[in-house]
Amino acid sequence: MKFMAATDSNLRYLIDTYLDWTKRQKVPIVEGIAVDLTAIETAPWARLGGGCTAAFVQLRGRGDFIGLHVIEIPPGGKTDWLHHLYDEVIYVLSGHGSTLIEAGGDRKHSFEWGPHALFSPPLNVPYRLFNVSGLEPARLVSANDMPFLLNVFRNENFLFDNPFRFSERLGRKGYYEGEGDFLPIKPGQHMWETNFVPDLAALSLPEWEARGAGSRNIKLILSDSSMHAHTSEMPVGCYKRGHRHAAGAHVFAVTGSGYTLMWYEGDAEFERHEWRHGFVFAPPDGMFHQHFNTGPRPARYLAASLGSHRYPVLAQKVKHKRAPDADVRDGGMQIDYKDQDPRIHQIWRQEMAAAGLASQMGKYFAEDRAPTGAVS
Ligand SMILES: [Fe+2]
Repeated sequence: MKFMAATDSNLRYLIDTYLDWTKRQKVPIVEGIAVDLTAIETAPWARLGGGCTAAFVQLRGRGDFIGLHVIEIPPGGKTDWLHHLYDEVIYVLSGHGSTLIEAGGDRKHSFEWGPHALFSPPLNVPYRLFNVSGLEPARLVSANDMPFLLNVFRNENFLFDNPFRFSERLGRKGYYEGEGDFLPIKPGQHMWETNFVPDLAALSLPEWEARGAGSRNIKLILSDSSMHAHTSEMPVGCYKRGHRHAAGAHVFAVTGSGYTLMWYEGDAEFERHEWRHGFVFAPPDGMFHQHFNTGPRPARYLAASLGSHRYPVLAQKVKHKRAPDADVRDGGMQIDYKDQDPRIHQIWRQEMAAAGLASQMGKYFAEDRAPTGAVS
């Protein structure tokens, strides 16, 4: 038997092809727990062309599947034609632009976007992004499953130079014009199918009280992909129930402002992160997290991960999606208000007082109810 001598050059182990690839792109790589996507530096990324810049964001709770690419298009600029064998959910952080989609044959689609727009080019379909302003840059963030796919195939040309077309993923014409189909399941599982949401802040959201006081939520099926996205809203003076799940859910603040507490079971202290539009964070695997709206307007956020309600991909996602609001007492992942650490509501009341707002949690907490005879 012949053994090879181990040298630095032939010791090939613990290779993360995606992370190695990001380092070769010569753009900033930002690591963090919570990141302000509007503030990070970008640098020219040759793959985009047109003087466009980018940065990659690697969050602590990113999990195994999802990467974030921040893309900035200069005033009046445009990307080259792009297509790739990974799915992505693109959220517009700032600026105004348009997307041109080459769907095959003489089928083309074009739609215009601004802040809070969300869209998803169908898998491997050529598209091009334009900044329609001559003055302002346009900044977008792509949440995508490239890390998973590049770690499996380990060849970027396979992902970026692959001619295969998934014609079954295109969707109907109206999906590129802001139309969609409401697919009713039940609260917490209702779906909106489309390829383009012109304004996430204006999307109609059905109630999901079981997730939190006055909570609203809809799951998004974008370009029939297996990328999950959902949008949730907390009314003024309200917060959601705490819950936990696997890593990978990237949470982007859309409207309003507030904070999120995170903790592992048994932790003595909470970890706290403030947020407003532009911020993203990803709760790590199994870490409880709870969102609080401390602003004077409803707060919405967008969450993106791998495994949609239509195509969950992962067995653990199937379990979670069947009963997303199941209580921890019943083997679920959500903590009811009455069972939460009492400090959570104390912190909340202090925050409301500091903000000069009244807590609207009286349905669940007696101390938040107006005294008899008082006008609330
Ligand atoms: Fe969550």
